[in-house]
Amino acid sequence: MLKTVETIDPAFRADVLNGLAEPVPAIPARWFYDRRGSELFDDITRLPSYYPTRTETALIEGMAGELAALAGEGCALVEFGSGSSTKTPILLEALKPAAYVPIDISGDYLREAAAAVDARFPDVAVHPVEADFTKPFTLPPEIDGLSRIGFFPGSTIGNFVPQSATDLLRHFRDVLGTGARLLIGMDRVKPVERLIAAYDDPEGVTAAFNLNLLERINRELGGDIPLDAFRHEARWNDIHSRIEMHLVARRDLGFSVEGHRFEMQAGESIHTENSHKYGPRGARLLLLAGGWTPVREWLAPDDDFALILAQAERERFAP
Ligand code: AVJ
Repeated sequence: MLKTVETIDPAFRADVLNGLAEPVPAIPARWFYDRRGSELFDDITRLPSYYPTRTETALIEGMAGELAALAGEGCALVEFGSGSSTKTPILLEALKPAAYVPIDISGDYLREAAAAVDARFPDVAVHPVEADFTKPFTLPPEIDGLSRIGFFPGSTIGNFVPQSATDLLRHFRDVLGTGARLLIGMDRVKPVERLIAAYDDPEGVTAAFNLNLLERINRELGGDIPLDAFRHEARWNDIHSRIEMHLVARRDLGFSVEGHRFEMQAGESIHTENSHKYGPRGARLLLLAGGWTPVREWLAPDDDFALILAQAERERFAP
């Protein structure tokens, strides 16, 4: 199909063309999630080696009652990025909030998720917000006066380098306001073999997820990237405490995207994702740096995953 200017997402175009032109080629991970990519991510969450989703879900099942006691009655639950999550209903069941505000960039997903909650929780007022949660937006006026709990599960915070992660946490603070609370899921540092297995499964689903980005570029930006010339790689970067996903060139190659020519040598890679892993103090320090004071922590068995409840206290500088 002919790609016209109107059918091309200008932000995708800019991120791909600028990213590929960098000395170390890199494309932001958010572009993984077209329809196929979202399906593949759902498949990833069910893989035996991908522990985060099932670990966090079990953790939420165990702590939701306690959270409800801390939250009190009639709060507003604000979820940053609402995919096709199974975690949210567990919280809604326990918290019985007055309102639920899912925020998502994908209108389709958002409406589906909102309709599902509407049907299952008739007492919860659902106010979806179609927005990129990293950008400025306002909360629906209907929740004015309700106490707020932000929910940011999945260790999605791990996709952001610490500088951007603290910016994002401060932005959440600005959006939710002083006195609000935030429940955030953060994956933990653990033996490298387990981390690599989670991001390079024997079934090859994560490889397909990574390579789908190139298919998306070819389809949406009229690229001619030879997919078979790239292989998926998951690396542990110890200095940055993160798993990195790369697409490594198997041979010297050239391709074009939207008429721009790119050349790569065998062994060079396109960096497609960071997934930062935190230790207990690193996790708390990140939150504090972002304006959130940790008040309670729940840990999965073997400290595989952490859920932290933090509070936006009034700003206090020197003691
Ligand atoms: C959705 C960002 C939390 O980093 O673990 C899974 C995405 N990438 N396998 C993660 C992902 C490869 C996932 N997050």
